[in-house]
Amino acid sequence: MEIFKEIASLKAFLKQFRQPGDSIGFVPTMGALHAGHLVLVQASRKENTLTVCSIFVNPTQFNNPGDLAKYPNTLQHDVELLEKVGCDVLFCPTQTEMYPHQDHIRFDFGFLDKILEGEFRPGHFSGVGLVVSKLLNIVAPQRAYFGQKDFQQAMIVRKLVADLNLDVVLKLVPTIREPDGLAMSSRNTRLSADHRKSALVFYKGLQKAKTLLQARVPFDAVQEEIKQFCESQPEIKLEYLALADSTNLSLLKSVTPQSILLIAGYAGEVRLIDNLMMNDEN
Ligand code: PAF
Repeated sequence: MEIFKEIASLKAFLKQFRQPGDSIGFVPTMGALHAGHLVLVQASRKENTLTVCSIFVNPTQFNNPGDLAKYPNTLQHDVELLEKVGCDVLFCPTQTEMYPHQDHIRFDFGFLDKILEGEFRPGHFSGVGLVVSKLLNIVAPQRAYFGQKDFQQAMIVRKLVADLNLDVVLKLVPTIREPDGLAMSSRNTRLSADHRKSALVFYKGLQKAKTLLQARVPFDAVQEEIKQFCESQPEIKLEYLALADSTNLSLLKSVTPQSILLIAGYAGEVRLIDNLMMNDEN
């Protein structure tokens, strides 16, 4: 695997893969890689001549400085994992390479960045929009791969790509779960053994909410029941359970064929998110 820390040298290298018939697939990450990231790399390898992964812990998307400081850094292990799955190129720039100036532009995604994650993490999606647009400009891939766990992020990136007329096809890859159902996340490594057990309640809460909605329990009552269900576990704090239209993220009160349940909360000090499509098998 070729490893680049500088934008200019990565761009120069990628030029040779811009011939007719070639395609570049891109997997942006913040490192601390797990099976959920590796399936994105594998999906890209199937569809493209060259797969580029980036590892950059993006400071502009952290509304909480403590969260940024604690974000896991496992670069050496990440490199080994990427080599094992046959990733071709790793881009792991420094903060000054990505942000040479202190001040930078901000994004406003309207309604999409005011709800759910946007409400609880003000400024988060502006930072995501900034770094993703920079990375898409640097790598200029034909396809970019995102996980369904970060569903709202995928909607934000979709809007970014549409509004800026970027020539990239976005691919949404289903969430990978631990055997007990916990959605894989780099943040899971920060859970204590006890919080790891309690954290499963978010996925169980999604499944329970789905069953209740299918039994036509009104959504307000479902929200109340799931809050109690989640918070009956030690050190769990629910931030939201929402039902939304998966095509545009508008919030719903009743189920439609395309609706999605989204959940977020804390297990101890670790903030976790998850979601479930109402029409999924699981
Ligand atoms: O999902 C992530 O890991 C990050 O938000 C992303 C897309 C790499 C941007 O920093």
